[in-house]
Amino acid sequence: ATLTIDTAKPIAAVSPTLYGLMTEEINYSYDGGLYAELVNNRTFQSNRGPSTADWTILQNGNARAAMAIDKNTGPSEALPLSLKLTVDNAAPKSEAGIVNNGYWGIPVHPSEQFHGSFYAKADSASIGAVTIRLINNDTGAIEATATVPALSADWHRYEYTLKSGAVTASAANHLTISVEHSGTAWFSLVSLFPPTYQNTANGNRIDLMQKLAAMHPAFLRFPGGNYLEGDHINERYEWKKTIGSLVDRPTHPSPWNYHSSDGLGLLEFFEWCEDLHMQPLLAVYAGYSMRQEHVDAGPALEPYVQDALDEIEYATGSTSTKWGAIRAKDGHPAPFHINYIEVGNEDWFDKSGSYSGRYAQFYKAIKAAYPDIQIIATAPVTGIRPDIVDDHFYRSAQEFFNDVHHYDNTDRNGPKVMVGEWATREGSPTTNMGAALGDAAWMTGMERNSDIIVLASYAPLFVNVNPGGMQWPSDLIGYDALNSYGSPSYYAQAMFSTHVGDHVLDAKLDATNPRLFDSVTLDTKHRRVIVKLVNGSSQPQSVSINLSGAKVRSNAHVTTLGAPTTEATNTITDPTRIVPVVSTISNAASTFTHTVPRFSIQILDLDLN
Ligand code: AHR
Repeated sequence: ATLTIDTAKPIAAVSPTLYGLMTEEINYSYDGGLYAELVNNRTFQSNRGPSTADWTILQNGNARAAMAIDKNTGPSEALPLSLKLTVDNAAPKSEAGIVNNGYWGIPVHPSEQFHGSFYAKADSASIGAVTIRLINNDTGAIEATATVPALSADWHRYEYTLKSGAVTASAANHLTISVEHSGTAWFSLVSLFPPTYQNTANGNRIDLMQKLAAMHPAFLRFPGGNYLEGDHINERYEWKKTIGSLVDRPTHPSPWNYHSSDGLGLLEFFEWCEDLHMQPLLAVYAGYSMRQEHVDAGPALEPYVQDALDEIEYATGSTSTKWGAIRAKDGHPAPFHINYIEVGNEDWFDKSGSYSGRYAQFYKAIKAAYPDIQIIATAPVTGIRPDIVDDHFYRSAQEFFNDVHHYDNTDRNGPKVMVGEWATREGSPTTNMGAALGDAAWMTGMERNSDIIVLASYAPLFVNVNPGGMQWPSDLIGYDALNSYGSPSYYAQAMFSTHVGDHVLDAKLDATNPRLFDSVTLDTKHRRVIVKLVNGSSQPQSVSINLSGAKVRSNAHVTTLGAPTTEATNTITDPTRIVPVVSTISNAASTFTHTVPRFSIQILDLDLN
């Protein structure tokens, strides 16, 4: 094959926001994932209503305990119910209480400090002290202990700190909350946090944030996805119910069949963006939910439009605005900046055909208040020209190979494009090397067309790999309570997003092999030509690379992601089988031959003199 590059001929600017992230509550992405809370079902609710799911009883010696949902008392209007614990025959060393097993275990590392809290009350002070422990499931060893001296008769928030000793890191632990005297106590919002990313209270898991940071994402599209829409209108993402103190967040059922704690609420999404220097790309609920429920454009839709305007004001308004002041009270006086708003999610599923009218109503109201915000249509619309349209592609590698020229002839005078969800769906729970090849081929096409594709984000981002943790196979990053890993697709993404120039160069690949793909960009600042080559075939491909317009230095870095088979993959127990490897070549020149190994993605950083 021959790759001819004119280094003096940039043909288009690369979008600086091309590579971003898409996220929603799916596959235990936040609860049991990024959101570092370790207690599962901390407010005793499930998608089907009040529930003691994930809680069991602890009874030592003759002590007896019973637990039940009490719908008549809770710590707040938002959390009106609680878990009632009734204890009989308790005595010192003969305790009873409740147990939580976390999200497939509770991870404990050596010398780790945990911060916990709960809301509680007791019928009488005679129930005595409450003891909180982390206990190893296999050995029964007490890994950490804390005590709350007494409970009052009214709802009150109690805090505790647990510190582990020289333990072996393990997720096989559970949390116990017990008393050594008989009586009745009520609990709600039982919480336990390990250290979090940048030590943020109510914050995120460190290893997952680090994996995202390594991708250098330009933006975060949130909060969905189907999660934005909900199955029903009354189960939509109601952002106003996800802000403020945790005790004032009612939690909500989600379309992915598990309940959402909303501990990672609207403000936390924006703070996540801030932590990783990503632009927020906020999707607002647009009056359509997944079971074919919609709100007609016109007066009925007005409250939803107003809700979106309030949401934008909450994020971007100064503290002298109503919602900006509420954000400040919630702990973030500085306003965030929003460049992109998406109206709805995948509203092409709305069979009523109401999206064009709904989009236009949101568009006009948002533009009137925020003329600089780019407003993304999530489905084709008529009667109004959107700033950006969102296309989604879930495909096989072969389908992506066949369609890498998808955007080559797209009208440059039309709306810009966001590829807001895309993935090669091969491999489960996370994708394999074959998928990474499909992804990389598709990314070469997006990159070559990134004058028109301004934003692109793979989906889904996360999966908890435990049985029952996954609702959607083919995900980017997998984890259990203790460990996490990137799929080959993750590394392909990270390679592409951390090696991209500012201009697409005029490059022509002449190849007989239909599974060889390229993208060539110029990094003007560093005077570097970045050549991406994807070989999705089972044979090494020799490529004669001819560069005109500048002299090329002979030493160059080559980053390779490859595997012997397309099925090869990374797993929670074999997390780094396929990772990028950096090597050097010394034969780079204006004309040189380079061989791309079979089933591999390579990036050549060619420095110009
Ligand atoms: O990424 C999984 C789902 O795929 C998203 O929630 C939805 O937008 C799409 O159909």
